[in-house]
Amino acid sequence: MKDTAVRVADFKDSIFGVISKLAREHNAVNLGQGFPDFDGPDWIKEVAYQKMKDGHNQYAPFMGTQSLRQEVSLYYKKFYGLSYDPEKEITITVGATEAIYLVITALINPGDEVIVLEPFYDSYVASIKMAGGIPVPVTMHAPDFTIDKKELENAISPKTKLIILNNPHNPTGKVWSREELLDVSLLVEKNDLYLLSDEVYEFLLFDGVKHIPTATLEGMMERTITVSSAGKTFGLTGWKIGWICANEKVTKACRLVHQYVTFAVSTPMQEAVAVGLTKLSDYLPDFVNLYRSKRDFFYNELKNLGFDFKIPKGTYFMMVPIKNKTTLKDVDFALKLIQERKVATVPPSAFYLKSTEGESYLRFCFAKKEETLKEAAKNLQGL
Ligand SMILES: Cc1ncc(COP(=O)(O)O)c(C=O)c1O
Repeated sequence: MKDTAVRVADFKDSIFGVISKLAREHNAVNLGQGFPDFDGPDWIKEVAYQKMKDGHNQYAPFMGTQSLRQEVSLYYKKFYGLSYDPEKEITITVGATEAIYLVITALINPGDEVIVLEPFYDSYVASIKMAGGIPVPVTMHAPDFTIDKKELENAISPKTKLIILNNPHNPTGKVWSREELLDVSLLVEKNDLYLLSDEVYEFLLFDGVKHIPTATLEGMMERTITVSSAGKTFGLTGWKIGWICANEKVTKACRLVHQYVTFAVSTPMQEAVAVGLTKLSDYLPDFVNLYRSKRDFFYNELKNLGFDFKIPKGTYFMMVPIKNKTTLKDVDFALKLIQERKVATVPPSAFYLKSTEGESYLRFCFAKKEETLKEAAKNLQGL
């Protein structure tokens, strides 16, 4: 039988699948998977059911339902002062993952270079490769996961077309400062690039930190393609409703790809998320409090165990240094914790192409029930 396509030849099973399988085999508490082990709020699930009963069950318009595009546009205006035309600049996708794929496929020609800031969400590099593009890694250096401006500038070549930035950042929990975002955006402008800003954790911010959408920086509205999704915000990652906000030209190209990849996105779920977005102001304070208390609890547990790191200001991840605990690298230490401590984490070296800095860390996800976090902390006692 003939071979499958070269473009997938070097793809491997994602680290999440591998860790989850091992966690199941060893009956370990799973703090590896990046999603809650509890359900999102009942009220939005009831809206979804009602929307189904009301007959919102056939194909939606391919660019997304009118109601959801409208509500996405309204929240960007209300929260950030950004104006996106729901007809021409907003597209609904199957989660942020499809959004990322569409943007990269719509922009990248074979041989184009795309700068990825490592550690990165793993779909970026896969999407770049599927488009025939070349991922060019620039490291966010530990312990604060900052980029070196010169390193970034040196990574840009005449072939560079796009930089991908994720804020708030998975896996580190870092929230980019305005100054850091400005450093990147000045290089984007100077070199006539696009910036893909993955902001799926935009509402998961703690300690009074405010989200700064990259598109709000001077000169960046036209060049920034913002991707977000409802999964994290409503604790319903399985709903897979995401969106792209971009200028008309980029939106047109993304929609052309979308119509042949998924064509349309689940109608009742879009309708429910549209209602959910109207309730953000009431919903967010409790949502953030819930995750903040989980973060504080688990951070204190890890501190008491002797792990030394700064408390993350965003997302539901902690990137925890392991050097003072082991001479093993992340992958081996993660395996050891699963086997001997019954706690599963993600070894972050999978999120790097260039640097080995990830080998001295593990990523813990604290989006878990209180009892799950307590059990993990108990299993780790005496480590
Ligand atoms: C940084 C980042 N971007 C995108 C996604 C994908 O989001 P979605 O589930 O909406 O496809 C995730 C999910 O974990 C993520 O962490």
